[in-house]
Amino acid sequence: MRERRSRTRKAAMGENLIGRVAVVTGASKGIGAAIAESLAAEGCRLVLAARSADRLEKMAEELRARYRVEVLSVPTDISDERQARNLVETAAAHFGCVDILINNAGMGIYGAIDELNLDDLRHVFEVNFFGPLAALQEAVVLMRRQGGGTIVNVSSIVGRFPQPLGGGYTATKFALQGASGAARAELKRDNIDLILVCPGLTETEFSQNSRISVPGAEHRQGERHSLGRGVEPAKVGRRTVKAIRRGEREVYITLFDRFLVLAATLLPGLFQWALVYVTRYRRRRFEEDGANE
Ligand SMILES: NC(=O)c1ccc[n+]([C@@H]2O[C@H](COP(=O)([O-])OP(=O)(O)OC[C@H]3O[C@@H](n4cnc5c(N)ncnc54)[C@H](OP(=O)(O)O)[C@@H]3O)[C@@H](O)[C@H]2O)c1
Repeated sequence: MRERRSRTRKAAMGENLIGRVAVVTGASKGIGAAIAESLAAEGCRLVLAARSADRLEKMAEELRARYRVEVLSVPTDISDERQARNLVETAAAHFGCVDILINNAGMGIYGAIDELNLDDLRHVFEVNFFGPLAALQEAVVLMRRQGGGTIVNVSSIVGRFPQPLGGGYTATKFALQGASGAARAELKRDNIDLILVCPGLTETEFSQNSRISVPGAEHRQGERHSLGRGVEPAKVGRRTVKAIRRGEREVYITLFDRFLVLAATLLPGLFQWALVYVTRYRRRRFEEDGANE
């Protein structure tokens, strides 16, 4: 009986996403907003979460008007385990089910490993790792009962190799990728897909929203610190939806991202050498007072 229900649900997911209920965290802007829009364009019913209630409701209104889909906004601080669990419960209470969970909310932290403020790092772990894990645990209970579903964890290419002066952030994404790999295998029998989306540099406010834990450079919080221009978030949104339809395992957005991950895996010595140069470059940028990247 359980087998038959599971297969039916999988086939339905493969064909289209119309009417599916998707919870998207970090949906007020950036990549999360783009994923929410791509899901709305597919006809999904949405539950949007982030801390800024006004921005979230504005986003919900836009999606309702443009795509004629039902959208609920649930202001949530994902670093609070109770709120993370409550988000999924609220979605289920409102729509009766949760078919897709997008764990996208996240933030960065800049600083050398030997100088990182550990309280700041703990907070970033709460946002990037423990919050998503709590939401996943709640969603799995529901999805098991429903006969299946899809969980998308938005990681990063730096979940595959270290980012100089971003080692704390890297650690949160390595943790997320490790847990995701195990969960994917564990949840197979429950017909729950676990997809890792690993964007590279994407044009959002991410670096401005990251914590600065570089002694002497704390006043540069809110500045742009990324290494160049990235891809448009809409591209990540569209690629994520395609991955959900296909039930993919791990997704990269550009060929260059794939190349970097491959190089880090196949040529670790050369890659490490390049990282030393990137470290010097980034350190200089933080030391050049007020010089935005
Ligand atoms: N941009 C990149 O280059 C890049 C590359 C690879 C991976 N990523 C990953 O992509 C994801 C989205 O990042 P982004 O680039 O879109 O960044 P962003 O523009 O800064 O957006 C982050 C989103 O997360 C929400 N958020 C932050 N802290 C939260 C909290 N405690 N509770 C609930 N929501 C919270 C923010 O909304 P509120 O402020 O309203 O809460 C916002 O909606 C992150 O997981 C990030 O690690 C980004």
